[in-house]
Amino acid sequence: MVSDRALYGDLEKVLIGRDEIRAAVKRLAARLNEEYRGRELMCICILKGAAFFFTDLIRELDLPLTTDFMALSSYGNSTKTSGEVRVQKDLDQPVLDKDVLVVEDIVDSGLTLAYIMDTLSKRGARSVKLATLLDKPDRRKNDLKVDYSCFVIPNEFVVGYGLDYAEKYRNLPDIGVLSPRIYAEEE
Ligand code: IMP
Ligand code: MG
Repeated sequence: MVSDRALYGDLEKVLIGRDEIRAAVKRLAARLNEEYRGRELMCICILKGAAFFFTDLIRELDLPLTTDFMALSSYGNSTKTSGEVRVQKDLDQPVLDKDVLVVEDIVDSGLTLAYIMDTLSKRGARSVKLATLLDKPDRRKNDLKVDYSCFVIPNEFVVGYGLDYAEKYRNLPDIGVLSPRIYAEEE
């Protein structure tokens, strides 16, 4: 099993195991290979959480593609969203006339993603679609369209496979529900 690592002691439970993640990433890639066949894709990774999902996903894509990275402010050390979006690192390349795929780790309130999708459309991308590893629809505060998602999850705070709490747990190979006692002091 996976519980040989000390970090797993901070989890309430493993929600999605590594094999399940790998299979879902392959299924999504197969779908994207069909839908974007004959086109060139610009894949945008939203740092830092999506980096793990991003590199696994694009290695399964059989398409000519370019990569770029964007970082926005999010939770900081808290498990609650501030609703405020600030660009910390912008793209290096223009999106004008590109077919853009935004790759995110998790869509929660949807505020961050709504901002990104809107910004890229305004910059003249030919198309902008959103692929997320996890979707928490119960928490949505807008009508953001999620084009592709690997897993719909309940309203619980999860870590692992890129997702962090206070910058920790990103290196867990599985996705787990963080034990509330870890962030209890903050409330
Ligand atoms: P949104 O703008 O509320 O959709 O926030 C999305 C961002 O919040 C994600 O990219 C994550 O960085 C963070 N986030 C939301 N829920 C979780 C969670 O359960 N675990 C870890 N990070 C989360
Ligand atoms: Mg993120």
